[in-house]
Amino acid sequence: MSQDIVIRVPQHVSIIMDGNGRWAKERGLERTQGHLQGVTSVKKITEEAVAQGVKYLSLYTFSEENWNRPEEEVAYLMKLMFKSISDYLETMIKNGVRFKVLGNRSRLPKDLDEAISQTEKITSAGDKMTLVVFLSYSGKWDILQAAKALAKQAVASGDADSFLEGISEDDFGKFLVTAGIPDPDLIIRTSGEERLSNYLLWQGAYSEFYFTKVLWPDFAEEDFREALRTYAKRDRRYGKVK
Ligand code: IPE
Ligand code: IPE
Ligand code: MG
Repeated sequence: MSQDIVIRVPQHVSIIMDGNGRWAKERGLERTQGHLQGVTSVKKITEEAVAQGVKYLSLYTFSEENWNRPEEEVAYLMKLMFKSISDYLETMIKNGVRFKVLGNRSRLPKDLDEAISQTEKITSAGDKMTLVVFLSYSGKWDILQAAKALAKQAVASGDADSFLEGISEDDFGKFLVTAGIPDPDLIIRTSGEERLSNYLLWQGAYSEFYFTKVLWPDFAEEDFREALRTYAKRDRRYGKVK
């Protein structure tokens, strides 16, 4: 944690944590060792985000597409998630962190899903920062599940036409799993890849992007502060003329 406080801090910082496999490969290790090391970055960056006054930190930890990885890697990641949640519980409480997991929870192993629900409950009073973990998440999945839920309500209303007529963009946003969470101001992606990989497609409409070559297991507090400093210099126009 640092005393070096950045001004004009984004309210919501989101991170596409990428490069665990390459980090391990560079060292002649199994990919899983990269994931394990990646957890230490999560801990460091969460605490730094709280110190910097970030209100929402969200992390893309596992995409819907990541289910297509080798079975052993997927199983390892689910177990690692399970273990990390309990290992990190006390630190979250101490730091006033509210924990939330968003994604297609029906695909998660039952014990993991239960541990998540319990942790969400235990940390629900955390008022310094909300840590959102996107797990089994994809942007297209989110938009589709929202559209389905909206369609159900439209049918149930008895007058689908006028129901749908009254739906605004803000109303639609309430059907996304991120309802109640502000859109990300800044999306960071590590490891040199410069794509969204089906992440917050709707919510990232006006996010600022920051790409760095640093691999996620090497991403440290100073890298995070550098991203915040870069954000502080950006000029967000939202389509207007300034
Ligand atoms: C990110 O690291 C973690 C997950 C997607 C689960 P990767 O596992 O994608 O690492 P690379 O991209 O292969 O290096
Ligand atoms: C995106 O990383 C998903 C997460 C970081 C959780 P990937 O490594 O899966 O993305 P691609 O396959 O390189 O686009
Ligand atoms: Mg990757």
